[in-house]
Amino acid sequence: MTSSQADVSDLESTAVPFFPIPRAPGCPLDPAPELAALQERAPLVRVRLWDGSTPWLVTRHAEQCALLSDRRVSADWMQSGYPFHSQFLQDHHEEGQFLTAMEGPEHLRLRRMIARPFTPRIVEQLRPTVQQVVDDHIDALLAGPKPADFVAAFALPIPSMVICHVLGVPYEDHDFFHRAIRTVTSSDVPDDVVSKSGGELYRYLAQLIGRKLDDPDDDLLSQLATERLATGQLNRHELVMLVLFLLVSGHETTASMIALGTLALLLHPDQIAVLKDADGPEVAAAVDELLRYLTTVQPGRRRVAVEDIEIAGQLIRAGEGLILPEEIGNRDESVFPGAGVLDLRRDAGRHLAFGFGVHKCTGQPLARLELQVVFAALFRRIPTLALAVDLGDLPFMDDGLGYGVKEMPVSW
Ligand code: HEM
Repeated sequence: MTSSQADVSDLESTAVPFFPIPRAPGCPLDPAPELAALQERAPLVRVRLWDGSTPWLVTRHAEQCALLSDRRVSADWMQSGYPFHSQFLQDHHEEGQFLTAMEGPEHLRLRRMIARPFTPRIVEQLRPTVQQVVDDHIDALLAGPKPADFVAAFALPIPSMVICHVLGVPYEDHDFFHRAIRTVTSSDVPDDVVSKSGGELYRYLAQLIGRKLDDPDDDLLSQLATERLATGQLNRHELVMLVLFLLVSGHETTASMIALGTLALLLHPDQIAVLKDADGPEVAAAVDELLRYLTTVQPGRRRVAVEDIEIAGQLIRAGEGLILPEEIGNRDESVFPGAGVLDLRRDAGRHLAFGFGVHKCTGQPLARLELQVVFAALFRRIPTLALAVDLGDLPFMDDGLGYGVKEMPVSW
């Protein structure tokens, strides 16, 4: 038996809580020391989850990449042994499958249908629009009262407007869908409230699809409705689930990166100086380093082995669950020396913040563009930007499927 193979005492000592997302005491941007300690101990360790199940936690970058791209590993949450994040997801998983929880030809078929507007070439055409949205929000911030909530005034509306533009969702309905998205991605909201908000979002999008069929526009929803739904390549439920997933993915993920990226920079003023001098490719590299350092999509990719797999001297049996927390893969010293340091000049290109393998983020060119435009402009236009409260008073979002900050009062 290797040192990382499970026995009962191992399991007890590695029972890492996943909600709220564990962080280092006093350093809310660093992963919990317990997770880092597991990485030092072995590439794979057993952990005990909320339901008593004992999936493998894959701690290191190399094994995370190998397993996320292994065809014997499945993201399909219908497979027995899938390590669910929560009781709620386990209870409701049969109601609808999202792209990230599909595998094989079905996954590829749907992924291809949405790919086009997110290809780097098409995304690049959006640069002037994104620049305008960012400039307008900086102008509005500067013209508004101080202190301002950076999340409500800047970090959330920018990705929201951009994804609404790409999908063809009316931004004027944002009060409704921001609240509903926040509810469905939280884990501390009562189940009936989550179900109600999910249902409202579903009906809202189903109605919108009807309107797009009658009166199509130049957006992804109209294209999917007229070319895929009308021709029977997608049914209405599949289309609603697909668009719902895109709308949710396009919001909190990028908003969290804008808010936490700004916070990380405010805590590292030397890095703001690096950013102010940076040209286009250097800003792109800086964004990758922020993505690596922060890894906001937490706590970990979830997978299940569908065949026996031997890796790093360990046998993973078919039917055993896997959790792959990129936040510690991205802090692996063997790939990113001095990984705990935010260094915007490093080559962070191998980070896993967008996942790895067949499920790697479809929207990453769009997210990258938004982050590049934001971080190239923000500190040049507002060089005196500062937190208006103590770090310890910030309300972090650690109860959902991503790490973020609910409010961030700033001044300048
Ligand atoms: C900084 C922002 C973002 C981060 C950190 C992020 C992160 C991720 C990660 C880690 C995955 C992999 C999930 C898995 O393997 O289980 C993923 C998948 C995905 N993301 Fe993103 N994402 C971001 C922005 C976006 C945006 C703007 C969109 C566009 C709507 C988007 C659409 C998707 C889609 C469609 C998938 C599913 C791909 C598949 O399963 O084939 N994401 N994202």
